[in-house]
Amino acid sequence: MSHQLVVVGLGYVGMPLAQEAVRSGLSVVGFDVVASTVSSLNEGISHIDDLSDADVDEMLSGGFYATDDPAVLATAEAIVICVPTPLRDDTTPDLGAVEAASTTIGSLLSPGTLVVLESTTYPGTTDDIVRPILESHSGLRAGSDFNLAYSPERIDPGNPTFGLRNTPKVVGGYTDLCTERAVTLYEQVVDTVVRTVGTREAEMAKLLENTYRHVNIALMNEMAIFSHELGLDLWASIDAARTKPFGFQAFYPGPGVGGHCIPIDPNYLSYAVRSLGYQFRFVELAQEISGRMPTYVATRAQQLLNEARKPVNGSTILLLGVTYKANISDERETPARPLARRLLEMGAELEYFDPHVDEFEVDGAILAKVDDLPGALAAADLVILVQPHDDILEAAPFPEASLVLDTRGVVTGPSIERL
Ligand SMILES: NC(=O)c1ccc[n+]([C@@H]2O[C@H](COP(=O)([O-])OP(=O)(O)OC[C@H]3O[C@@H](n4cnc5c(N)ncnc54)[C@H](O)[C@@H]3O)[C@@H](O)[C@H]2O)c1
Repeated sequence: MSHQLVVVGLGYVGMPLAQEAVRSGLSVVGFDVVASTVSSLNEGISHIDDLSDADVDEMLSGGFYATDDPAVLATAEAIVICVPTPLRDDTTPDLGAVEAASTTIGSLLSPGTLVVLESTTYPGTTDDIVRPILESHSGLRAGSDFNLAYSPERIDPGNPTFGLRNTPKVVGGYTDLCTERAVTLYEQVVDTVVRTVGTREAEMAKLLENTYRHVNIALMNEMAIFSHELGLDLWASIDAARTKPFGFQAFYPGPGVGGHCIPIDPNYLSYAVRSLGYQFRFVELAQEISGRMPTYVATRAQQLLNEARKPVNGSTILLLGVTYKANISDERETPARPLARRLLEMGAELEYFDPHVDEFEVDGAILAKVDDLPGALAAADLVILVQPHDDILEAAPFPEASLVLDTRGVVTGPSIERL
């Protein structure tokens, strides 16, 4: 039996794609190497924020199933690779999962199949790394025996307005025909497909988007630090500036950048630039500035406690929200972790409130989790708003708390100090 689409890697990117493809009437199978992910999906249990158990049930009713048996790859008309692209300890790209998935696909590839890479990566990965692996393991040639393309995923977890279907999808093929095959696939799943000239341009488009965010967030972070010293509210200035109807896009400071994209993807680009013999200075500067924000927040916490004649050592500090962005449970690269580490080093009695996180671990230590928010707000020497989940903002402006450091500029009140 053939399948119109096999999605390889059933995570934050692969699952929404599979969901939308099932909704569009395609026969879809999900392939993943983690057996527990496969079995829980087949039992109708979702492991990602953007899909509920009911969504998985709807997919299963639409014919979707998950498997860890690679034999399904031989039955595919199209294969889309959505595996992780993390960094190694030395911050260089780790393409191990892309290479492993390509090897598995290559050894089972049928003539005429379309293979699309969606994982975020540096320009040249599809043509120079994925293609040779597919060709050598299959004995087939890209562009003639099978089609190959790159299409960056733009999923924004937790975004209630823009999902896969109404976010334009960029596609670049190894050949023009490869592009057209990929366009035909995605036109069934998303409203707008945007062709670009090749795989490299499509790969760069994704890194351009994330580097642009990265640099502008870092700019706001640097401005937040000196705006505080100049005695002005940067958020108010941003609100004023954003009334300009052209030439300005608002970005906001915060306690540091997190998630899979912003702290990681630009490293893929700076790695590619370093191979040319020089540095991508904007990215490295942005990394340096935003990377220091958790320490800066800890310093501001120390100053606030000092004004209240309290040392950090022994003070109870309550962190509100510890994930990397609001209203999701993803903790990857969350700035709450380095912030917590710094406060623990200074001797703080640290606790957290986050309905999205059952257990928050920092270097092997499990932080005390608070359930009674009003009681904890009243008891804490200092409250730090790290992530403004909706269920945290419901309690704002935290009247029970004596001292609040708002790292997001979202709350105003007598006991609240902005970053
Ligand atoms: N999460 C996001 O918001 C987001 C947004 C845009 C782009 N991306 C990019 O998409 C890619 C995937 O990210 P994600 O967040 O979905 O990752 P994820 O960790 O949520 O999911 C990846 C899945 O791939 C599976 N996997 C790993 N190796 C495999 C292999 N060899 N064969 C089959 N399955 C394998 C893992 O078990 C996991 O289930 C990354 O390159 C990421 O940069 C992520």
